[in-house]
Amino acid sequence: MLHITIGGLKIWETRIPPWLYARIYVSWRRVRREVGVLRGVFERFNARRLVEFGCGIGRHGYLLSRLGFDVLLTDVVDWRFGVARRLPFASYDVLKGGRLGEFEGAYAMGLLIVMDLDGIVRALPNMASNVKRDGVLVFDYNFTTYNEPREVSVRARGRTYKALMRWEDVKPIEGGVYYRYRVEVVDEGGRVVGVEDTGYPVYTKESLFKAIERAGLELVEVIWARWNPERYMYELARREADSAFIVLRNP
Ligand SMILES: C[S@@+](CC[C@H](N)C(=O)[O-])C[C@H]1O[C@@H](n2cnc3c(N)ncnc32)[C@H](O)[C@@H]1O
Repeated sequence: MLHITIGGLKIWETRIPPWLYARIYVSWRRVRREVGVLRGVFERFNARRLVEFGCGIGRHGYLLSRLGFDVLLTDVVDWRFGVARRLPFASYDVLKGGRLGEFEGAYAMGLLIVMDLDGIVRALPNMASNVKRDGVLVFDYNFTTYNEPREVSVRARGRTYKALMRWEDVKPIEGGVYYRYRVEVVDEGGRVVGVEDTGYPVYTKESLFKAIERAGLELVEVIWARWNPERYMYELARREADSAFIVLRNP
């Protein structure tokens, strides 16, 4: 179970066990695609020593380490699963900040999407403070609600499980919308074995780029992508699309 409470406020959480969460949301196929983008950026900026924020299961860092990068995984709670447990790890809250070291590159996948605008403005310089001059910070953002399929079947530990979208709601907020949903994961006997009953804000491009400006970081590059809800992964796009990998630098 993963609960995150920051300043008394509960933010995005999941109560799906990590071994099932990994199968449903963090397929190696999805991670390989994102790691392909990160690898391209870090190679172009000669960044080999990396820190990951909000690593979750930890698969991105694991694949990058297999590609020869030196990666420190961090998250506010340690819920790494499987092979990623072999990598070095430090507890780190991007909203509180602090210095972990001087890295050549940093990245955060699926992290800023769970934060509100003030959180994003706070988190960006905190993360960037761990990056050396001329080093880069990369994160992804999806400007639409994830638009998940009603039902996803996965095999895990020799059994079939279904993730069922039970309820969704979208409400307008300043700069975007607030998306709430409830997913229940059921086993072959129909028993509920995991629940994700949570929500997060989804901001417009304009609001997010303003937040980057407020955070005082330099926008280096935007790599556009399209979110494929059926495959639960990004597809790279040639022009502006619903999602982006954003590359920033300390000014
Ligand atoms: C949606 S998950 C994404 C996990 C993983 N990066 C991925 O792409 O599958 C969001 C992650 O952000 C972490 N997180 C939430 N708030 C955080 C904070 N203030 N500081 C660091 N990590 C945080 C959560 O623990 C969780 O692992």
